[in-house]
Amino acid sequence: MNEFPLRLANSTDIPALEFLIPLSVRTLQAAHYSQAQMEAALGPVFGVDSRLISDGTYFVVEHKNEIIGCGGWSRRKAMFGGDRERSGEDALLDSKCDPARIRAFFVHPQFARRGIGRKILAECEEAIKQSGFPSAELVATLTGEALYHSFNYKVVKRYEVPMTNGLALPVVKMAKRFDTV
Ligand SMILES: CC(C)(COP(=O)(O)OP(=O)(O)OC[C@H]1O[C@@H](n2cnc3c(N)ncnc32)[C@H](O)[C@@H]1OP(=O)(O)O)[C@@H](O)C(=O)NCCC(=O)NCCS
Repeated sequence: MNEFPLRLANSTDIPALEFLIPLSVRTLQAAHYSQAQMEAALGPVFGVDSRLISDGTYFVVEHKNEIIGCGGWSRRKAMFGGDRERSGEDALLDSKCDPARIRAFFVHPQFARRGIGRKILAECEEAIKQSGFPSAELVATLTGEALYHSFNYKVVKRYEVPMTNGLALPVVKMAKRFDTV
């Protein structure tokens, strides 16, 4: 039996995702960000983007019927962030030339480093390729960088996302082409 089954997320998963995301952030990112940075980022930077769920591009991984990981990809412009604090429409990308986005990976701390992130990322890449996108881009946390590095994503630039109270979140923009690997 598959210990960690993966499936597409649906809207009834949102309460479980709203529980998982802060737990994952506060525990697994503590080595890279201050508590103030993590709290400021929860919501605007780290949150549920229900658009990905309605687009059918967001996955959850379960263990004994509990969601212990989530992550997805997007055919839309936004690079990160929950949709609650987004104003306006998230425009569609052009699959012929634009890079698809990899979005919003969060794993339950008790299940970290057991291949959950890898499983979701592999599924995303398959779907992205099948949808015809030539490449993918993402904005990684310092915590997530190693996962994407292990899939051959290259650093495009390091920068800081400005947040409330003068705080900023150091992140890494990363990219990968599928037609050259
Ligand atoms: C980033 C995150 C999703 C990784 O999930 P995960 O399920 O623990 O990752 P996996 O077990 O699939 O790791 C796959 C590979 O990525 C790399 N990797 C993942 N986490 C790593 C870490 N903490 N240190 C070093 N390498 C790591 C390794 O190469 C690993 O392979 P290995 O275990 O065989 O060495 C998880 O740490 C997380 O939820 N972090 C908090 C939220 C966050 O910052 N999300 C990223 C948004 S961009």
